[in-house]
Amino acid sequence: MTSDQQSSASSTSSTTTSATVAAPRDLSEVRFPEGFVWGTATASYQVEGAVAEDGRGPSIWDTFSHTPGKVLGGDTGDVADDHYHRYPEDISLMADLGISHYRFSLAWPRIQPEGRGQLNGAGVDFYSRLVDSLLERGVQPWVTLYHWDLPQALEDAGGWPERDTAERFAEYAAAVQQRLGDRVTNWTTLNEPWCSAFLGYANGVHAPGRTEGPAAVRAAHHLLLGHGLAARALREQGAEEVGITVNLYPVDPATDSAADRDAARRIDGLMNRVFLDPLLRGAYPDDLVKDLSSVVGTDHVHEGDLAVISTPLDFLGVNYYSRHVVRAGTATGAPSTWVGSEDVEFVKRGLPQTAMGWEIDPDGLHETLTRVWREYDAPPLYVTENGAAFDDEVTPDGRVRDEPRRSYLERHFAAAHRALTEGVDLRGYFVWSLLDNFEWALGYSKRFGLVHVDFETQRRILKDSGHWYAEVTRANGL
Ligand code: FCB
Repeated sequence: MTSDQQSSASSTSSTTTSATVAAPRDLSEVRFPEGFVWGTATASYQVEGAVAEDGRGPSIWDTFSHTPGKVLGGDTGDVADDHYHRYPEDISLMADLGISHYRFSLAWPRIQPEGRGQLNGAGVDFYSRLVDSLLERGVQPWVTLYHWDLPQALEDAGGWPERDTAERFAEYAAAVQQRLGDRVTNWTTLNEPWCSAFLGYANGVHAPGRTEGPAAVRAAHHLLLGHGLAARALREQGAEEVGITVNLYPVDPATDSAADRDAARRIDGLMNRVFLDPLLRGAYPDDLVKDLSSVVGTDHVHEGDLAVISTPLDFLGVNYYSRHVVRAGTATGAPSTWVGSEDVEFVKRGLPQTAMGWEIDPDGLHETLTRVWREYDAPPLYVTENGAAFDDEVTPDGRVRDEPRRSYLERHFAAAHRALTEGVDLRGYFVWSLLDNFEWALGYSKRFGLVHVDFETQRRILKDSGHWYAEVTRANGL
């Protein structure tokens, strides 16, 4: 993503593991509950490469990245980290990190090259081998079914703005679970539907690169519907843990003026509540529906959809990177992610930033987790992504001394721990990312990995932050 895209527990839905988490006196006393999940995350198009191998069909990201001007430097995911071939080495790195879980996504077009119909056996076999190899090394697979690489054939048929895509997604999900469900416990339907809908269809910074505000709103609904249909199908087939991952930001007004507070309310609606409310309350927020009424009607929301969308979850994945501070401004006319609220301006606070230009704000993670927990009847939470890009360098002795990343993670782990001590049922934490990889529209220019990748030679080097993370996972604390 680029920068401009950007009490007591009330839940009764689960047992709280956190009641016994004591507040630490200093960082060295930060200890996580027994069984806390430590992991790393990747996504298929960002790491796999091998885009034309073993019957994989094209995805919207292949088309988009091969369209001149869409991705910085003309980079594509054609080779990426070559994880498709090098996964055994990457699993060894995971074992070195001491992680218990690996969160990765399946490329839908590897499994259904056209997005429908018979499964491509070779594609399923790849994931089957990956899962087996993980389990052999004591790492649990955590599968995301959709991390943005829609089969191109489905986009050609209209993509997520079309209801049929939701049905196709549920079919794909059910078919895959039948093949891998004997070994995979955790199923995440979607990663960050906000990005799929609003970066893909509103400001066009992500594939498929369309700039149609109303289509983006319909896409958001059909992503949610696809999630709900898939969740029901997976459950019926006996999937153990079914959830979804959303990217959440606290949204603050720049000043206390009524106009700025209203801007914050609107962006919070378009960013956070547009997904949290249907998923956890079975309804879209009234104020959001009103805000969008001049842009798009509600014909695409059929009777019964919200009941499907609010199918109970076993977990909610939260991806956290930063906070938004906003003020009422003036419309620019450029395609905006903020459908119907194009006038809102995003303000920097002058905090230190990552290489993405995202302000570093660990308190925002604490606030996000406690907000979800207090305001919604939420299932157990996992931080399914958090991490940082910095301009890493390999020194002549072959090391990557990435102290800024280590410190970033430490501060965010401590913030998550604070939420635990306040009663939030947080069960795990996945660092984004295992490997430096294809950072979407920014290509290979941004490095998020705990492992440095030389994209010429594919040589991997565990960064200093990775060595430190291995100590955290082993100590289950800081
Ligand atoms: C998230 C995406 C992930 C990665 C990080 C930096 O929005 O889910 O693929 O690009 O941002």
